[in-house]
Amino acid sequence: VTVPPAIQPALQSLASHYLIPDSLERPGDDPIFALHAEAQRRARAGESILNATLGALMEDDGRLAVMTSVFEAFAKVPPERAAAYAPIAGEPKFLAAVVRDLFGSSGLAPHAIAVATPGGTGALHHAIVNFLEPGQSLLTTSYYWSPYQILAEHTRRGVETFPMFDAAGRFDLGAFERALRANLARQRRALILLNSPCHNPTGYSFDAAEWRGLVAVVRSAIRESSQRPPVALLVDHAYARFGAEGSDSWVREIEQLCGEALVLVAWTASKAFTQYGARIGALVAVHPDPEARRRIASALSYSCRGTWSNCNHLGMLAITEMLDDPSLRQRARAERQRLRELLGERVRAFNAAAERAGLRHPRYEGGFFVTVFTRDGEATARSLRERGVYVVPLQGAVRVALCSTPAAEVPRLVSALAEGVR
Ligand SMILES: Cc1ncc(COP(=O)(O)O)c(C=O)c1O
Repeated sequence: VTVPPAIQPALQSLASHYLIPDSLERPGDDPIFALHAEAQRRARAGESILNATLGALMEDDGRLAVMTSVFEAFAKVPPERAAAYAPIAGEPKFLAAVVRDLFGSSGLAPHAIAVATPGGTGALHHAIVNFLEPGQSLLTTSYYWSPYQILAEHTRRGVETFPMFDAAGRFDLGAFERALRANLARQRRALILLNSPCHNPTGYSFDAAEWRGLVAVVRSAIRESSQRPPVALLVDHAYARFGAEGSDSWVREIEQLCGEALVLVAWTASKAFTQYGARIGALVAVHPDPEARRRIASALSYSCRGTWSNCNHLGMLAITEMLDDPSLRQRARAERQRLRELLGERVRAFNAAAERAGLRHPRYEGGFFVTVFTRDGEATARSLRERGVYVVPLQGAVRVALCSTPAAEVPRLVSALAEGVR
């Protein structure tokens, strides 16, 4: 239908009649998906396109990597269980399995409660609405997954950041400490979001010393204030199962926070079980006091009812089997190990080629993405697009999805990046 120009203004005013002011100018398209669509259009038209935009792990032949054992677990779920509503907070066996998956024999496990969420996104939502007042801001690193901002704005909260890296390219502990103290002085409560191991978009994983340092910063910020302000530290665990050996050392370090700060984890099956579409996740909260745990569990369950009611029952039951059944767990581990090696080969190829080309990027030991620093991210990404290479522009960097770039394509990727940065 072509709308005559004469009545277009009237139609626009109708939209503003119905939408509340906050909703009137919402961007409807995700910029990463828009770039991905453009890359696909050009590829279909016959151009040689290297698409390093999307955050899903692809086989070298361009098909989505999947774990067949997970589909077998789906097929085994009895229909009459799958079709029924899940409990609002999630299946108790699923929640216990998630806690075991995260904490194993750590002393954190007995102090943890959890609720089921649609992926890590749902877990982030519940953390934001329950541990920050409207008008307050969560605190995270200067590079962060952009939906943090959408989740915060959508729930009438904000995002505050601190420089992620110091001059030596390590986590900027000093900047974190200053930002946390300023945030607490203003809000008298804090919610910190840290995405490690395998940070999106930089690929950075904190090492044990960095975790130790940031735990000490959180403890001293709480202890040195006479009011002992409530601080929640959320570990965004989205890509953690693709971290290098030893990258789960954060669990040991974070035990020191138990009882001082609220420890939260956004757990998800999206990447760990290559089930992006199943929307299976959980928000885990750790507190040593049973009454505090009861209240937190109730608040989170209430938020489930007030948003999505209950999550995907079929997926939850299947993932519970994947986590609990020894033979399925073993198969999942083996299938994931193959995918970790596929990614590892790309990471090694990237690190070697990037060093030869003189690219500047954070320490990169595993994970779906890395960022390459550049003066002007938009200009660099534009220059790459002219060569048929798609990456995501950021402020002062571009994000490169090695998860969707075969090792054989890394030389083309790195030479386009070197040219684009120049
Ligand atoms: C940093 C980060 N956190 C959380 C998520 C949440 O993913 P999902 O909701 O699929 O679990 C993603 C997904 O891309 C992510 O990149």
